[in-house]
Amino acid sequence: MRLLLQQGYEVAVVDDLSRGYRHNVPPGCLYQLSLVETNALTELMRQTACEAVIHFAGLISVGESMREPERYLANNVGGSLSLLTAMVQAGVKHLVFSSTAAVYGNPHTTPILESFPIQPVNPYGESKVMVETMLRWFDQIHRLTNISLRYFNASGADPEGRLGEEHEPETHLIPLVLRAVMTGEPATIFGNDYDTPDGTCIRDYVHVDDLAQAHILAVEHLLGGGASDQFNVGTGTGHTVLEIIRAVEEVTGKKVPYLWGARRDGDAASLVAASGKLRGKLGWNPKYTGLSTIVEHAWNFASKGGRRS
Ligand SMILES: NC(=O)c1ccc[n+]([C@@H]2O[C@H](COP(=O)([O-])OP(=O)(O)OC[C@H]3O[C@@H](n4cnc5c(N)ncnc54)[C@H](O)[C@@H]3O)[C@@H](O)[C@H]2O)c1
Repeated sequence: MRLLLQQGYEVAVVDDLSRGYRHNVPPGCLYQLSLVETNALTELMRQTACEAVIHFAGLISVGESMREPERYLANNVGGSLSLLTAMVQAGVKHLVFSSTAAVYGNPHTTPILESFPIQPVNPYGESKVMVETMLRWFDQIHRLTNISLRYFNASGADPEGRLGEEHEPETHLIPLVLRAVMTGEPATIFGNDYDTPDGTCIRDYVHVDDLAQAHILAVEHLLGGGASDQFNVGTGTGHTVLEIIRAVEEVTGKKVPYLWGARRDGDAASLVAASGKLRGKLGWNPKYTGLSTIVEHAWNFASKGGRRS
């Protein structure tokens, strides 16, 4: 939202605040609604003369989705269907969707191309696949053009330190490791015997500002008459868990307390994006590709208490 406002767009935010926080949205921009409130969404889109929707809303925890699949399907798939219905009712023709690398499951090789098989291994990933499928039909039948952005590991924080990761419970590696530094409570590293240079999992960390910029490029592509598509959003470079720990130690100047845990079911050894399609077709050019910058920005946010006042 910050980048959209900076770039001259008018923005209305819809969130039911089930997992989000009012303090992250400027006063007057937030409409506290659930995605399942189809008619209220239609009315809001009409009132605001909405031209395009960026759809981030959803439940995001893989582990929780393995315990409560019905909740994930109802919220992520049912909620998205309601939103798409409202868009059709209001005549809004463009949508950018937050999808995920989890749609690929555990691919045998990396980097991962958009053409790799879609084979999610948990209900969270499956819920995103189902929405991508619905989007194809809404394009074909209602001419609602759309782009799915399959994020790899969103990370970092806004460079001024006002916005950052606020998940409860937190499941993402960098904020968990920063929390370990601040509290002295050890972080757990799941698995040290993967087929990677140091035995820990490799992931592709993409800075939230670069991720946000990908959304703006996607909206502009659709508003300019561009066709529906799917894109990975990752830098194309992977880092192991131990590399993250070393980067946190360098940025904070403190030792990271950690413990070794067993491998988690379903964790792939390495998930790294092939990012050429997004760069080539939409002109995406990430600014913050250095791991130390990502960790510095996350630390800047976390060390101020992790929340805007
Ligand atoms: N963070 C990552 O690394 C990552 C990776 C891949 C994909 N994604 C996707 O990006 C999106 C945003 O992720 P995030 O990390 O900012 O998560 P988040 O939990 O901080 O944000 C999701 C927001 O959706 C809202 N929400 C949930 N269900 C809703 C509903 N039915 N109606 C209205 N609002 C609802 C929550 O209150 C929350 O504010 C999600 O769709 C997630 O699946 C995130």
